[in-house]
Amino acid sequence: MIRRRRLKLEWFLLILLAVFVSGSILFKIKCNTDCNRPSMIDYKLPKKSLLSVTNVGNSTESLRHRITSRKPIRKHVTKSMAELGKMDAVNKHFLFLNSVPKSGSEILIFLVEKIQGVNNFKHIRLKGGNKRRLTKAQQEEVVDEIYDIRRNLAIPLSFDRNVYFINFTSFDKQLPTYINLIRHPVAKVMARAILKKTGKYDSYFIRCLSDSKKNCNFKNGRPYDLTIPYFCGHDPRCMLLNNQWALETAKKNVERYYQVVGVLEELDTTLDILEEEIPQFFDGAKKTYQANLLDIYKHKKDPDVPKEVWSTLEESLVKELEFYNWVKYRLFEQRLKSKESSS
Ligand SMILES: *[C@@H]1O[C@H](CO)[C@@H](O)[C@H](O)[C@H]1NC(C)=O
Ligand SMILES: *[C@@H]1O[C@H](CO)[C@@H](O)[C@H](O)[C@H]1NC(C)=O
Repeated sequence: MIRRRRLKLEWFLLILLAVFVSGSILFKIKCNTDCNRPSMIDYKLPKKSLLSVTNVGNSTESLRHRITSRKPIRKHVTKSMAELGKMDAVNKHFLFLNSVPKSGSEILIFLVEKIQGVNNFKHIRLKGGNKRRLTKAQQEEVVDEIYDIRRNLAIPLSFDRNVYFINFTSFDKQLPTYINLIRHPVAKVMARAILKKTGKYDSYFIRCLSDSKKNCNFKNGRPYDLTIPYFCGHDPRCMLLNNQWALETAKKNVERYYQVVGVLEELDTTLDILEEEIPQFFDGAKKTYQANLLDIYKHKKDPDVPKEVWSTLEESLVKELEFYNWVKYRLFEQRLKSKESSS
């Protein structure tokens, strides 16, 4: 009886020992792969441009490899704004396209991916673009993520992500050179209503829009993910339709921080101005566009929007339209200035 009990006890101790040993081995393995890994790996590198007409080359794969296999070497430490002292608030070698959906930014992304090699910079696609409006903490995460990448790749970088304007200064960091591309607000709304299968507009949507009793028309003061918030920022007011404060804040940010905001309907001018104003990134962009994309876009046209739908939408999107026209005017002014200075 006693012997049997002791045998049981010995078995119990043996099992306990085995559990302990294997547990600590497992923990060590897990820790080797996880615990020392720099947190910045967790972003998305470009798989392929949305418009992969031509292969962009293996730059993405090799970059992904370099980043994921790299030990966290600190090439240089980025100083905070306070340490930098009196310096430009905007960094010329650091581009950020906080792209507006359905507005043609895949063209710009294609171009930067294509010309990054000759112009000696890397383009990086940040993940998380489904969430455009962020909390303060989430904005800081994006800023930190970008600064981690910059610290580890000591070359000029450009980034893109669908996200509202982030004020890097409020996180004590130098701002990137912001750029963007917008399109006519009615065309943008309608682009969402094109059915993939047929290439035509969703007829339910069209009927619904032209019927004021139905519930799919825009309503003043309600929040929408239109164009203005991408320039205004993360304040809840930025999303409110036809909000004067949001419009003014968006314009102020464009004036202060956006070197170029292009207009899809004026793509030629947009590319000229990008080359002029930001040659360190966009040198050769127009040629690259002509060689790779022109043929595609010459024939690509959204179906016509019924007149009454167009005018109904224009009436609903007054401030969006005002912003669009203001940006277009600014682009033409930039072109005028560049012509004057070159003649
Ligand atoms: C592809 O990447 C490798 C490094 O992984 C590099 O040696 C090679 O030159 C690259 N080829 C092209 C066409 O970019
Ligand atoms: C950005 O943040 C800084 C510091 O908090 C502030 O002084 C500045 O007014 C902000 N700019 C905008 C456009 O919000």
